[in-house]
Amino acid sequence: MKTFTLGRSNEEVMEIIPNKRIKLLQVGSRKICITRINETFYAFEQLCPHRKASLHQGLITDFEEVVCPLHEYRFHMKSGEVKAGSCGTLETYSIKLTDSGLVIELP
Ligand code: FES
Repeated sequence: MKTFTLGRSNEEVMEIIPNKRIKLLQVGSRKICITRINETFYAFEQLCPHRKASLHQGLITDFEEVVCPLHEYRFHMKSGEVKAGSCGTLETYSIKLTDSGLVIELP
């Protein structure tokens, strides 16, 4: 497990990750998607488990789901569970906002 910190303050993190926008960021050796709904943050793998479309071009729903831009499968952004569609689960990562930045844990 490796831990990474993005930004240096709460305010800086809020600017880097706008509400309900999916940012594709290089964290360590991998590119991952990071988004938030208000002050709840989510981190998950870039490529859709179905046919590898890039999820940073997807949409966020009010039910903590990301909708893939290609075939519109839906994945829960915390558990990775497939909510609509039929494929493997989405890999998700631990992410937490602290006073000194956004802390992300990758395997
Ligand atoms: S590639 Fe994502 S739903 Fe098909």
